[in-house]
Amino acid sequence: MKIGLTYDLKEDIETGRETTEDALEEYDSLEVINAIAGALRSLGHSTVRLGGGRKFLQKILTTRVDFVFNIAEGRGSQRSREAQVPAVLEMLGIPYSGSDPQTLSVTLDKPLAKQLLQAAGVPTPPFQVIYSLQDLKALPDRKIPLPAFIKPAWEGSSKGIRLTSRADTATRARALARRLLKDYSQPILMEKYIEGDEVTVGMVGNSPPSIVGIMRVVPKKKFKTFVYSLEVKRDWRNLVEYECPAKLNKSTIKRISEASLAAYRALGCRDFSRIDFRVGRDGTPYLLEVNPLPGLNPSSGDLPIMSYKMGWVYNDLIKAVLEAALARYT
Ligand SMILES: Nc1ncnc2c1ncn2[C@@H]1O[C@H](COP(=O)(O)OP(=O)(O)OP(=O)(O)O)[C@@H](O)[C@H]1O
Ligand SMILES: [Mg+2]
Repeated sequence: MKIGLTYDLKEDIETGRETTEDALEEYDSLEVINAIAGALRSLGHSTVRLGGGRKFLQKILTTRVDFVFNIAEGRGSQRSREAQVPAVLEMLGIPYSGSDPQTLSVTLDKPLAKQLLQAAGVPTPPFQVIYSLQDLKALPDRKIPLPAFIKPAWEGSSKGIRLTSRADTATRARALARRLLKDYSQPILMEKYIEGDEVTVGMVGNSPPSIVGIMRVVPKKKFKTFVYSLEVKRDWRNLVEYECPAKLNKSTIKRISEASLAAYRALGCRDFSRIDFRVGRDGTPYLLEVNPLPGLNPSSGDLPIMSYKMGWVYNDLIKAVLEAALARYT
């Protein structure tokens, strides 16, 4: 097959207008595109690079492809940005890997996804959404879930999330929210801070999907408050160890697996995803967010890392995603 690759490279993004130093954090590097292209070629396919943004629009209209392997994050800072490329592919009738525009939009809007998860009976931390400074002023202290964790409502790759994102007082929560409202131009999510193990779950396939691995992210040194934050993700080799399979008790593993499968189904995920949890002291796995476009960096991506720890090589992961996607179209 001739497979098109859609993606957004850091170097393709027009710079100069960013308001934060993590503005390009979600975008990929050439290393990732080369790795995916190499894996697809080793499976006997030819690949063509379609990129993202306007370049993608021009190329997709002039290049014939049988299928698209999509990891495009989309442009801008709107909550539907990850839906941009899949929406165009659907318009043109071109089959592609991964979730559809609806799922990609809902999951990027964390408060919206949390409401659907609650309706499906999946535990997620209690929360408040702040849309504006007026909202923040009108919010009574007693409604702030303390200790709170303050983060942008529509981001990924720990954009806007630092080791200091936890607030123990309403005053501190308000100050953090005010700053994020200003810097990230989107609503802010105030969640109850869940003290406990950091766990991420990799999934591939459809009807039913399977769990690639359940991985615990263990800090290498003592942190006052451990957050799998931007600083930690950028310096993961020094700061964390990845334990997969996670050494948690059987009943916690069972609860995490059930919550992951229920969330994948409730949000309509397809082909692959990564789901992040914090396990509360009482053993409840609180779902933080669902990533239907998990990072595929072969050396630093959580999903690739956990798949290696489960005995896969990178090509096995790409093959599993591709096969799941192709099976949907036959
Ligand atoms: N309610 C919470 N309680 C405790 N820690 C939290 C909470 N929300 C987020 N965190 C911490 O912040 C990290 C990043 O949060 P989250 O997964 O929501 O952000 P993200 O930017 O979408 O992440 P990703 O890089 O996986 O896309 C979590 O892995 C966790 O360590
Ligand atoms: Mg996350």
